[in-house]
Amino acid sequence: MKIVLTGVKPTGILHIGNYFGAIKPALLLAEEYEARYFIADYHALNVVKNASELRGAIRGIAAGWLAAGLDPEKVIFYRQSSVPETFELATILAAFASKGLLNRAHAYKAAVQRNIERGDDGDAGINMGLFTYPVLMAADILLFGADLVPVGRDQVQHIEMAQDMAKSLNFNYKKDLLKIPEALVRDEVAVVPGLDGRKMSKSYGNTIPMFSSSAALRKLIMRIVTNSQGVDEPKNPDDSQIFTLYKLFAAEPEREALAARYRAGGMGWGEAKEELFRVMDAELAPLRERYDAFMSEPERLDAILRAGAEKARHIASRTVEHLRSAIGIAL
Ligand code: TRP
Repeated sequence: MKIVLTGVKPTGILHIGNYFGAIKPALLLAEEYEARYFIADYHALNVVKNASELRGAIRGIAAGWLAAGLDPEKVIFYRQSSVPETFELATILAAFASKGLLNRAHAYKAAVQRNIERGDDGDAGINMGLFTYPVLMAADILLFGADLVPVGRDQVQHIEMAQDMAKSLNFNYKKDLLKIPEALVRDEVAVVPGLDGRKMSKSYGNTIPMFSSSAALRKLIMRIVTNSQGVDEPKNPDDSQIFTLYKLFAAEPEREALAARYRAGGMGWGEAKEELFRVMDAELAPLRERYDAFMSEPERLDAILRAGAEKARHIASRTVEHLRSAIGIAL
């Protein structure tokens, strides 16, 4: 069976955009493939340098994926930091990653560009963690012989770099030591609009958290920006982010019925928001309950992740041992 692997960087709280864009599609893939999903906590260290914030984000992501339905019996679910073989493989791969390749990484290039535009030194405030990010990510992937790596478009270059490193290592030893992974880009998944109508994203500050309380969720929905059409005016559902969100949570007959009410006029934005709140809260309430339960029992969460790490290390140690002997490190 093919292996699907992806990592989630714990740098904030999960929102509806993550739910539809990453979590749900990944859980579907796990039905079809052997899935290995992990929390890329050392990747997050580049961004989050506050210990309790990082700890909270790691737990929140783990609890969130489990609450959304990840079955740790079926999916190997672990923390990157619990698999030290990752860091050994990253060291090996660094010897096969040219500096020029890493210079071309979009995230690094953009940071340099911002510095230059500001009149600063190009490398101001850039740490090696950002620069070598693609090497660590390649190690995450190649360690587990992943065939498919579901990612957003912004991560495709990183997968290509992983392919590059794997190919150059394989070429050097004239052996297929590392499997060449393929990116699986989630282009077909819906773009989830945020509170301001732009794509929901942490960096825009327009997110709706997956696990806020019912009351907080309602408040946020009431803040969604609308146009100034009055109650009586007919409204175009296809031109409304409230309806776009509604569609994600409602079944087909419900969607059609509400679209008809938009078009007929007589329904104001306040009511449209109430309808949205109703379907959203109905879907999220059971997840929220499971999430809160996991968050109040960190030992249970840790035990699940530890069990996942054990399975992951079993695979990872084989890869690294095999490599050590192939490259002449094991005597
Ligand atoms: N870089 C990815 C992101 O920011 C997270 C990540 C780390 C990852 N390692 C990975 C994704 C390996 C896929 C495979 O979203």
